[in-house]
Amino acid sequence: MSNNSFKVSDDKLGKTASFPLLEGTLGHPTVDIQNLNRDMGCFTYDPGFTSTASCKSDITYINGDEGILLYRGYPIDQLAEHSNFLEVAYLLMNGELPSKAEYEKFESEITWYSKIHEKLRGFIEGFHYDAHPMAMMVGVVGSLSAFYHSELDVNDPEHRRISALRMLAKMPIIAAACYKHSIGDPFVYPRADLGYCKNFLNMMFARPSERFFIDEREYLNPAAARALDLLFILHADHEQNASTSTVRLASSTGANPYACIAAGIAALWGPAHGGANEAVLSMLAEIGDIKRVPEFIKRAKDKDDPFRLMGFGHRVYKNFDPRATIIRRTCHELLEKQASKDPLFELALGLEEVALKDSYFIERKLYPNVDFYSGIIYKALNIPVDMFTVMFTIARTAGWVSHWLELMADPSKRIGRPRQLYTGKPRRDYIATDRRG
Ligand code: SDX
Repeated sequence: MSNNSFKVSDDKLGKTASFPLLEGTLGHPTVDIQNLNRDMGCFTYDPGFTSTASCKSDITYINGDEGILLYRGYPIDQLAEHSNFLEVAYLLMNGELPSKAEYEKFESEITWYSKIHEKLRGFIEGFHYDAHPMAMMVGVVGSLSAFYHSELDVNDPEHRRISALRMLAKMPIIAAACYKHSIGDPFVYPRADLGYCKNFLNMMFARPSERFFIDEREYLNPAAARALDLLFILHADHEQNASTSTVRLASSTGANPYACIAAGIAALWGPAHGGANEAVLSMLAEIGDIKRVPEFIKRAKDKDDPFRLMGFGHRVYKNFDPRATIIRRTCHELLEKQASKDPLFELALGLEEVALKDSYFIERKLYPNVDFYSGIIYKALNIPVDMFTVMFTIARTAGWVSHWLELMADPSKRIGRPRQLYTGKPRRDYIATDRRG
């Protein structure tokens, strides 16, 4: 048996077979079980995909035990320190860092696509003012498939490249427009003279000067733009997380990419995933005082209590989430600059300290994840809490479109169609009665 195959034999099934053992660049070897059903007459069962690789990918690598995160091989802490979000988006989409000329072209294309059809405003205005911004994002981004469909050929690489640019460019515009709708303010159009993050901050917080005087230096300051850019870098991609896997599964059918990204937004909204950043702030507000931390730690450990410590734990990281480490440090720096003692940040630090000493969290290797501190920075940037997951959406669009491009360029791609373990009723005949009298 070659040393790169995996032998399976089972007395009950009375069968023996060998399956290729695939080695990636980094990480666990992977047993190729595509022919398991054919050769052994059985399926595998892995409901949360805890041990299942759904695809091959060159984009991102995580080592959960060592707290490592690489984007196209580059460590996240180096990108966080030296790069910016648009350069990272280019890297994720194309596989290499751009040259100066490539970056300038990319930036100008993003600027070119940074506009939305005026008819799209009608979709946003159709929502009640108090609709959750994530509900609006799912609907409005999905509706882009109504504007870009008939001429869109997903099998054409240039069509795919332009679709990816459109989504990256339009996501912050739609996000800011949803926010403006929710507060009854007029939309603010993107400006070609501002970078990606400053443009977003301007679309979020600028107000018509004739109606309100607001000094744009309040929200367009370089520190705010840099903090936002950092958060976008840290949230850009993360292997086959729930929302990215949703985008891949939807895309495997050849569906309209804007609709597939909308499916990813829906998956990200959940509090177990991208909705956790909003849930962390709600949790910290509910705890309110460091004296109540033990009460909530107790609840988090109680199996009869649905409460979980939001922002703690991760399917893959069984060590510190490297993104949380970077964000924690940035929180300190930002709050020191603002000379503000955000009580919620102090509370978060206290909660983290207590949890990390508790045997329940230690035994289960539950550490703060990317969502535990990000809300503190968003709050310092005056982003409303119900917009936190929208921020995650803007950043993760870079990852989603990169995985879409990778999947659609794969000549061996197949429609995703998992099997199941059937536990329902055996076959039974329909017996006509007097309507179940
Ligand atoms: C993101 O996948 C990604 O990469 C996601 C993400 C990305 O960038 O895309 O990193 C972004 O989604 C981060 C995670 C944000 N979610 C939260 O912070 C919500 C709180 N965390 C938990 O819901 C949970 O930790 C998950 C969902 C993150 C992970 O769930 P798993 O892998 O299914 O873990 P599990 O339920 O099997 O938990 C193992 C044990 C269980 O206890 P036992 O049954 O062994 O006694 O740990 C316990 C769980 O009850 N546990 C927690 C806990 N998380 C796990 N107990 C209390 N509080 C928690 N937060």
